[in-house]
Amino acid sequence: MNAAIRAVTRIAHSKNLEVLGFERGWEGLLTNTFTRLTPRNVGGIIQLGGTILHTSRCPEFKTEEALDKAAKNLSANKVDGLVVIGGDGSFRGALELCRKTNALMVGIPATIDNDIYGTDETIGFDTAVNTAVTEIDKIRDTAMSHERIFIVEVMGRKRGFLAITVGITVGAEVILIPEDKCKTEHVISVLKENARKGKKAGIIVAAEGCGKVGEIAQEIEEKTGSEVRLTILGYVQRGGSPTARSRFLASLFAEKAVEVLCQNKGNLAVALHNGKVETVTLEKVCCKTKPLDLSLIRLADMLAT
Ligand code: F6P
Repeated sequence: MNAAIRAVTRIAHSKNLEVLGFERGWEGLLTNTFTRLTPRNVGGIIQLGGTILHTSRCPEFKTEEALDKAAKNLSANKVDGLVVIGGDGSFRGALELCRKTNALMVGIPATIDNDIYGTDETIGFDTAVNTAVTEIDKIRDTAMSHERIFIVEVMGRKRGFLAITVGITVGAEVILIPEDKCKTEHVISVLKENARKGKKAGIIVAAEGCGKVGEIAQEIEEKTGSEVRLTILGYVQRGGSPTARSRFLASLFAEKAVEVLCQNKGNLAVALHNGKVETVTLEKVCCKTKPLDLSLIRLADMLAT
């Protein structure tokens, strides 16, 4: 997100536009808390994880009075265009706010879940994948040494994009995602087959949206006789210095966002589509579900034989 904040600020300033950085997401717009962003005070942040503006989930932003207050603050500050950097929650807020203000809204998709409709990739996804892969490679060392099964839970409260990408990239024996309600019996049969082939160690990557990883671990231990250990990667996946790809994507998305606003267009989100930076309507982003290619599960099974 910092790479996007930096790029929006510098590109906007190159077009003689003033930039206000509202703090803590939608909360900052409600409390009218912002920092004037300049090419200088966004220096030295491209390599920093997180966001210098802080962020927050703002459940009250769903109320009409909150939306009215936000619209009032936008007009009081003479804001012509608002760049909203975030995930589906941020974009839903932007879509609601469109009803109340003439300020133009442009979303920049930034979430490690990569679950935003209309874009092939979101800012932060590549960083989270690489972080998880690095940690799981270390876990595989101990799994191999102790001939244990490890279930590693990765983030992804509702969708399995992070889990499937990480699972394939670490050579997971099994990948569990919310979109593919595979039964524990299937997991156990895969592990038993592997043991028959002499493959006693194994990594199971599970999206947190699958839930019950503790119960799955216990059932595997009881039914296979293998030692099973559980690791929840958690918030390490949402920090750390962003990868080159995440920084590059952030810079390209920011350029498109400012370009769209300068063309007096709004109520859009920028998106990566087949390698090109395009736009998609906020309406579509918020109302449609990004499809996950389930053939990737078959690929993962083939690769794990
Ligand atoms: O939406 C991104 C995400 O990191 C999810 O993968 C995760 O389940 C959720 O945020 C965690 O939310 P919070 O930081 O509010 O606990």
